[in-house]
Amino acid sequence: MLTKPKGTYDILPDKAKSWVRLEEIIRRITKLYHYEEVRTPIFEVSEVFHRDENDTSDMVTKETYDFLDRSERKMTLRPEGTAGLARAYIENKIYANEQISKFFYMGPMFRYENMQKGRQRQFTQFGLEVYGSTSPLSDAEVISTAVAVIKAIGLKGVKVKVNSIGDDISRQNYKKVLVEYFNNYKDKLCKDCLKRLEKNPLRILDCKIDRNEEFFKNAPKIGDYLTDESKEHFNGVLEALKEMQIEYIVDSNLVRGLDYYTHTVFEIEVDVEGFGSQNVICGGGRYNNMIEEIGGPKTPAVGLAFGMERLLLALEFENRILTKPDYLHIYFISLGKKAQMQTLRLMNMCRMGGLACEMDYLDRSIKAQFKSADKYNAKFTAILGDNEVENFVINVKNNETDEQETIGLNDIYSYVFNKLSVNSQSSCQTCKEKKE
Ligand code: HAM
Repeated sequence: MLTKPKGTYDILPDKAKSWVRLEEIIRRITKLYHYEEVRTPIFEVSEVFHRDENDTSDMVTKETYDFLDRSERKMTLRPEGTAGLARAYIENKIYANEQISKFFYMGPMFRYENMQKGRQRQFTQFGLEVYGSTSPLSDAEVISTAVAVIKAIGLKGVKVKVNSIGDDISRQNYKKVLVEYFNNYKDKLCKDCLKRLEKNPLRILDCKIDRNEEFFKNAPKIGDYLTDESKEHFNGVLEALKEMQIEYIVDSNLVRGLDYYTHTVFEIEVDVEGFGSQNVICGGGRYNNMIEEIGGPKTPAVGLAFGMERLLLALEFENRILTKPDYLHIYFISLGKKAQMQTLRLMNMCRMGGLACEMDYLDRSIKAQFKSADKYNAKFTAILGDNEVENFVINVKNNETDEQETIGLNDIYSYVFNKLSVNSQSSCQTCKEKKE
């Protein structure tokens, strides 16, 4: 038997419904916050992600799916959305038309990681990127959009952590003291941290292995090395968050796992006992140097990405269900060849008018067909035998009231449509859409 690759998964209908609902909520919130959707390729030329040989992030050094295409060009399956979108921003010269651009995206990302709950090799991100604003209000607005999504899906136990890793000067000053400090503990640092000490000491603070050691906890804090400008920016972000009544925690060790950040960094964690170690559902920050690094004009940027699987896992953990119960408007029971043919025609007519319908295709007994009407949660059951076809009538049963009527064959659509409108006073989506 062929099986799916490690770290991937199938989304079957039951789960697909939650995905669709989550996507709908994301689209609604991003519209409220005035983001526009963009879609970029799932693979890019490798340089989009492998830009800097000093990059120490796991994502770039260990986890990308790199391959040569048939023309021997180096390609990479996107491990995240940010760099690909930056490439698109530059290539399409978006900066020439708009001073500030606010984009969102959703789609699969690929990282060759060790698998565990909440960590796959193919996973889905919903991301936001804002280009062209240096204002701390933009950082805060991005965070507030994430919080709005979390509220809209009804997730409760989350914690927003923020920090600033400052501008280039702040980080240079901080790196010096950090190297001096960790040089005293070389014998205690893990293998990866020894490498980070040489290439990017800041990322030692992101180490999952060393983080519980006492020497680690006593390391100098970036907050003490921020330039006045960086402090002012960070204070501006915190002030705006307070103004919007967004609860947060300043975590002075938060540096994020990617090398491109400047100034603000943040993560949103599921803060519920027993959820598991992969509890960061959203991460992001400001990255003022990337657009220039990829070959564009100097453009400040800030953004975030949610892991959508982790969002859904967190919802499941809190026993929250995103989907509304599914139903059909009409289940057609047909008995005999002529009736089946007419049913197909009637279903087509009803479906064109926006009613969801289904019939039996297997010549099953009337009892089995009634069972299907039940299983699919049909609001109405329409019953048609060859006799009815000859008399050009159809029997309709309202499954909520058990009321049954015989009506003209071609009246089925208007009959059900009118009943749905009256009954629900527009809780029926089809009726609402028709009215609009
Ligand atoms: P990231 O922290 O690498 O940031 O990923 C963002 C989110 O994607 C994580 O918080 C997590 O929820 C989810 N995620 C990452 N890897 C996996 C995985 N292997 N399996 C399941 N979920 C995963 C970024 O990707 C940045 N591009 C975010 C950003 C946008 N920064 C600025 N703009």
